Amino acid sequence: MKTKYIDMRDNINEKNIKEAAICINRGGLVLFPTETVYGIGANAFDDRAIEKIYKAKKRASDNPLILHISDIKMLNQIAENITELEKKLIDNFFPGPFTIILNKNKCVSYKVTAGLDSVAVRMPSNIIAHKLIEYSKVPIAAPSANISGRPSGTKISDIFAELNGKINYIIDSGDSDIGIESTVVRVINDTVKILRPGKITVEDILKVTTNVEIDKHVLNKVTKDEKVISPGIKYRHYAPKTKCILVYSNDNNKMCEKIKKMAILYNKALVVSVAENIEKYNDCNNIQTIEVGHKNNLEEISKNMFSVLRKVDDLSPDIVFIEGVEEKELGLAIMNRLIRTCEYNYIKV
Ligand code: TXA
Ligand code: MG
Repeated sequence: MKTKYIDMRDNINEKNIKEAAICINRGGLVLFPTETVYGIGANAFDDRAIEKIYKAKKRASDNPLILHISDIKMLNQIAENITELEKKLIDNFFPGPFTIILNKNKCVSYKVTAGLDSVAVRMPSNIIAHKLIEYSKVPIAAPSANISGRPSGTKISDIFAELNGKINYIIDSGDSDIGIESTVVRVINDTVKILRPGKITVEDILKVTTNVEIDKHVLNKVTKDEKVISPGIKYRHYAPKTKCILVYSNDNNKMCEKIKKMAILYNKALVVSVAENIEKYNDCNNIQTIEVGHKNNLEEISKNMFSVLRKVDDLSPDIVFIEGVEEKELGLAIMNRLIRTCEYNYIKV
């Protein structure tokens, strides 16, 4: 398949968005920006198009997709029996980096929900995403733009090689603003359960309701045969080819010392480090560093993180150590992704 590349880094071209919307209506795949990460979109009501997404991404067929909408009318087309608390969350966090799992109605095919009776719904705030859905006049099913298991795409140059030829259109609008996927929640017994943390934090949701719970699988491994609410969390994710170890301490110096001590065993270690710590590794000849952002700027770290993880293998280290951050506010989302990157090799000192 020939992929058409559309450059909207400097300005938005309405005509091109309309052209991409026609492609969605004809059953094609469009790679488009959202405020979180890039998505691979298809008409949510077209089962054959949905199958194409799974194929292009090599995604497990039991992992459901998020449906992206541009207005509340579309929400009522796909979900039913929405409770007061769910409405309140929708009012507060739509449009934005927030996905809510609702009861699906019969218009939504089990292909999209991977056999579940629920449907994940998100209304992106990104203007191109919004217009693409609006012009398509259908909800757009879209997973993150990456081959399954790889870090999500936050800039086209990172994902072009793995997706070119598998999709009809690429809309490039530069680097993703947030860089980390949306917060996914489900209301269970009047409690908001965070299934995947993101830019909308626990602290943000607590301003809307007092009953908020972080699902235990956000920071813990799914044990064999354990039932999960969100199938995506079972899979290896965000991982470079090289083995990675996540290290964290409340005491910054202690964290760096621990990394240096463990790195001794390797000829060529790479540390994914905050700017402030880079020089702390200068005295170790076997350590190379790559900077992910500034220590107290979680927004910057989340924005750069996936792209940095994609660069790791290019440096061909024997081992990668990743500096952790405190598990609060946006830090919870960062750690949720990094724990998976490191396949649960997490050392807290
Ligand atoms: O920011 C985002 O959410 C991006 C952009 C493109 O919108 N999309 C994204 O999609 O991250 P994806 O497919 O990579 O992740 C969707 C997550 C998966 O973990 C999936 O298991 C979960 O949402 N999910 C989808 N439908 C669900 C459902 N009905 N019940 C529980 N979890 C669901
Ligand atoms: Mg994904």
